Amino acid sequence: MAQIAIIMGSKSDLISLKGAFETLNSFGIDYTARVMSAHRTPDAAAEFAKNAERDGFKVIICAAGMAAHLAGVIAAHTTLPVIGIPMACEPFNGLDALLAMVQMPPGIPVATVTAGKAGAKNSALLAVSILALGDPALAAKLKEFRAAQSRKVEEADASLQKEIAKLSE
Ligand code: RP5
Repeated sequence: MAQIAIIMGSKSDLISLKGAFETLNSFGIDYTARVMSAHRTPDAAAEFAKNAERDGFKVIICAAGMAAHLAGVIAAHTTLPVIGIPMACEPFNGLDALLAMVQMPPGIPVATVTAGKAGAKNSALLAVSILALGDPALAAKLKEFRAAQSRKVEEADASLQKEIAKLSE
């Protein structure tokens, strides 16, 4: 049963969300992905959010661009954690969506992550962190992910030192 729902405001957002799917797949987490819009299908979005807890979801990730109200509308209809990813669209390249998403009024939080592709990956990692609170095996996997990520940076640094040393030979 899917624990995570990823909702995008438009199918045009999908291209930026690949990292979220890849990350959830790498942790072996089931998800449901939907296209629903706060503006174009407001009733469907509200209905989904109202039923999400009953349907077994633990976290909802929402991606939207422009006047990005999707995450806020979903959050208004559920007490599940809602993570928002601002999508970069013309002409303001995501700053519009970032402000729309992050500036929620007090009482209805949305955990807004980085805009665009980096945000997609971070949204999945944040969702994994939330699920890991009640799942020690998942928590261990997340710690291993972080350790592997650190090792990559250390390897890159070691390789940089070698290249720098060669330049000064
Ligand atoms: C938002 O408007 C969507 O999330 C998308 O980022 C943006 C543009 O949508 P389309 O015109 O590409 O459908 O609601």
